[in-house]
Amino acid sequence: MARISNTRIIRAKGVGKGEDFSEENFKTETVEFDSTLKDGEILVRNLYISLDPFIRLGFEGQDPKTSPYLNQTVAAVGISEVIDSKDLAFPVSSIVLGLRIGWEQYTLLKDSNALFVLPYDPKKGDLNKLPLMEYSNALGIQGLTSFAAVKATIGSFKKDQVVFISSAAGPVGGFFALYAKHQGAFVIGSAGSDDKVQYLLNDLHLDAAFNYKTQDMRTELQRLAPSGRLDVYVDTVGGETLDIAMEHLKDKSHILVIGNMAEANSKTPYVPKNWKMVISKSLTLHGFTAFHHFDKFPQLWEEIGPLIESGKWKSQKNTVEEGLESAPKTFVDYLRGKYHGKVMIKVSDL
Ligand SMILES: NC(=O)c1ccc[n+]([C@@H]2O[C@H](COP(=O)([O-])OP(=O)(O)OC[C@H]3O[C@@H](n4cnc5c(N)ncnc54)[C@H](OP(=O)(O)O)[C@@H]3O)[C@@H](O)[C@H]2O)c1
Repeated sequence: MARISNTRIIRAKGVGKGEDFSEENFKTETVEFDSTLKDGEILVRNLYISLDPFIRLGFEGQDPKTSPYLNQTVAAVGISEVIDSKDLAFPVSSIVLGLRIGWEQYTLLKDSNALFVLPYDPKKGDLNKLPLMEYSNALGIQGLTSFAAVKATIGSFKKDQVVFISSAAGPVGGFFALYAKHQGAFVIGSAGSDDKVQYLLNDLHLDAAFNYKTQDMRTELQRLAPSGRLDVYVDTVGGETLDIAMEHLKDKSHILVIGNMAEANSKTPYVPKNWKMVISKSLTLHGFTAFHHFDKFPQLWEEIGPLIESGKWKSQKNTVEEGLESAPKTFVDYLRGKYHGKVMIKVSDL
């Protein structure tokens, strides 16, 4: 029986909806576990963990006395190396993208559900010649979300279509923006700081961008969209932004419903005011979750990997903070909107 010492970060305290989140919600501990595997189990050493909005949900509305989530390792998406395996499809040394790993050095996975071998040869490196961390951004779940959402709903953006994307400086919104630009659309993005707006204009080369915290969204959409009208709205936030976007959508246009960050930070659910426009403008709403589209990972890697490698696709900003111990503070800052692009924690070298 082999025992492994594992440093991990657990959910120490729940948080109410709309309540502020702090480092006190987390606790770091070191525990030992038996690493002898049963059939189908896989043991991974975690290299990068991704910071994502859903992590907060695991802390929300939990009754401290009965919650099954508190005192558990914080769940995460990440990139790991297989170090022991009882599943032939996941051999030792393969590099994997895992959607059920955690904020810890090692994760023992009971099965291979939501685990994907990356096109990365441990001897030769990445077959797309890209840094491994791209698989936590454009070639990871963020890229898959945007890539598969377009394929599964509108098929593609069309040349000269006017596309508005909220939270465009984040990894999901940023991928949508690059994808729409790549396909010839006119792209407008919104973000929560002037720095982020500069990133959208100067680094991602969007056609137009505005700061939704300091500028009036109605005025900006009217001013920035040619003829003040939109063909597609990519909604990552919900709330009032969705209402205002509806006012600017053309008849028979599309809304891709991807996330609702505005609701995540608010105590009371937002009641849409412009719902009747879905009827009067014949709008099509496409709800989407990446969890129904994992089969599109190989297509994402094949189509977008070479574009990034050749420089035809702009790499979004990657911020990598060092060490598991940096995760709680980085995550609190991330939720407060400090970062743009993708934020990851490097747990260990390959
Ligand atoms: N459907 C799916 O399968 C799927 C998969 C992955 C992610 N998502 C969703 O897609 C969205 C973007 O994901 P991501 O990973 O790229 O996250 P992200 O953009 O990195 O999320 C953090 C950012 O959200 C913005 N934000 C925070 N609170 C906000 C609020 N109250 N109103 C508006 N914006 C707020 C902040 O940017 P600003 O400073 O610019 O406001 C912050 O930097 C999220 O809603 C996420 O849940 C959906």
